[in-house]
Amino acid sequence: MSSPKRRLLITSALPYANGQIHIGHLVEYVQTDIWVRFQRMRGHEVHYVGADDTHGTPIMLRAEKEGITPKELIANVWQEHKRDFDDFLISFDNYYTTDSPENEQLAQSIYLKLRDAGLIEKRAIEQAYDPVKEMFLPDRFIKGECPKCGAKDQYGDSCEKCGATYSPTDLKNPFSVVSGATPVTKVSDHYFFKLSDPRCETFLRDWTQVKTPLQPEARNKMKEWVGQPGESKLGDWDISRDAPYFGFEIPDAPGKYFYVWLDAPIGYYASFLNYCQAQGLNFEEWVKPETTTEQYHFIGKDILYFHTLFWPATLQFAGYRTPTNVFAHGFLTVDGEKMSKSRGTLISAHSVIECGFNPEWFRYYFATKLNDSMEDLDLNLQDFVARVNSDLLGKYINIASRSAGFLVKRFDGVVSDEAMHHALLTTITAASEKIAALYEGREYAKALRTIMELADQVNAFVDENKPWEIARDPERAADLQGVCSVTLEAFRMLSLYLKPVLPQVVAGVEDFLSLAPMDWDAVLTPLSSKNPIKAYKHLMTRVETPQIEALLAANL
Ligand code: MSP
Ligand code: ZN
Repeated sequence: MSSPKRRLLITSALPYANGQIHIGHLVEYVQTDIWVRFQRMRGHEVHYVGADDTHGTPIMLRAEKEGITPKELIANVWQEHKRDFDDFLISFDNYYTTDSPENEQLAQSIYLKLRDAGLIEKRAIEQAYDPVKEMFLPDRFIKGECPKCGAKDQYGDSCEKCGATYSPTDLKNPFSVVSGATPVTKVSDHYFFKLSDPRCETFLRDWTQVKTPLQPEARNKMKEWVGQPGESKLGDWDISRDAPYFGFEIPDAPGKYFYVWLDAPIGYYASFLNYCQAQGLNFEEWVKPETTTEQYHFIGKDILYFHTLFWPATLQFAGYRTPTNVFAHGFLTVDGEKMSKSRGTLISAHSVIECGFNPEWFRYYFATKLNDSMEDLDLNLQDFVARVNSDLLGKYINIASRSAGFLVKRFDGVVSDEAMHHALLTTITAASEKIAALYEGREYAKALRTIMELADQVNAFVDENKPWEIARDPERAADLQGVCSVTLEAFRMLSLYLKPVLPQVVAGVEDFLSLAPMDWDAVLTPLSSKNPIKAYKHLMTRVETPQIEALLAANL
């Protein structure tokens, strides 16, 4: 093994159960999955868990609109999400739901531990209430006229017309989006997690600024919040909601429910617990404070606060370990703009499959864009076609078809063992740890650039040696076998390096090269004459430009 065996629990954010998976989400699941597959290839113990995030007001109201129960709604959506993740080869070890008995039990026990630690406070607050629907209204469910410019039909927090920000109580002629009624103000008891408590402040300052190797952008953002002692901006966090609410009831407060963002991250642990029970793994060993296991959360930059403030504080004061790190990525734009329904660029994962796209084209393309920062990344559709056709197919896949044919037809698929000492192969082997370090550091764009530069060298080798010419001279059979063997062994190593990104293509490669699934160390085990290859079969097709137009049309 390349390094001592690590034990890793890895998560991606839990997608809301009220919508489809789109290509923006996929950036995150693909980013995580590449890392997960890489770590597995390195021989580490890896557990990758996810779940649907099922609770909250929008899901409750949507179910009502569709005339089904929230539980029916989330069961349907779970099937769709699971299908989409399978289609894109996202290799979750367990894909669960936050609406589970494990999550209810964990959320309640964590809450009780926080309460016993003196970190929960009950306080009466005033809130907008829909007197017709008889429910409290989250800000997003109140609309009215902008207090600044008078624009109609604006949300309770900000005006889309003039950009003013305000609170829902400032709106003129406000109305409930649910019933149309004029909201009234009503008092209700809420439960708060006291993040302003000095214990939390001290802990979070240390966790975000010293203990955790957060991304620099993330650390700076958190610095604004935790500040210097005495200047913290941390407010207490409202973790309760009133009935009617789809979620878990708070144990000592009938009629009060946990706010969805309290139980959602706990859903990571609930999914893992469910998996541990099925697999006979010791859950406690992974989550106890003194554990030597590692825990990583991949998320989008929009949900950083939840993962670097609320979640570590929740874990710390309920007696659990805290995350080893949180990795935030930027947002996907399409052709330089925010994804938009009206331009057809809010592209659902399922439409990609239905329009006949190969999901690995997207995995590859996203990987060429991803790095360790929180910068946004762009899907440029022209560039997508070019990268897939000229790099992925033209540079990489082509190498196999340029060498395998001769070996099979003229040499019964037997490679030359002597050829395995060629200098080109030594160069490719030598890149192994550099590429590994780039994957480890989530510098996928750089990893792929390095791999494609090696592919360029292999293609140059083929162009110089011209196997198609050697093939015409019967006396040069040994040369032909040698050149094709070097080329194919090079292709094998490039495949190994690309395997975290292109698991399906590389499974096809392993099959035609008659190889067992390759781990990272397999770079040191070249093809052998003892193990003849099978006939080359087509590994991947080109993207055609009309497919792009069809995809945009399908999402209008
Ligand atoms: N349910 C919460 C997460 C709870 S985690 C305990 C949520 N769900 S989400 O469906 O809105 O987003 C899921 C993930 O997808 C988030 O990490 C989010 O940042 C990411 N993305 C959503 N749209 C995205 C893009 N356009 N681009 C990149 N990532 C995007 O947030
Ligand atoms: Zn306005």
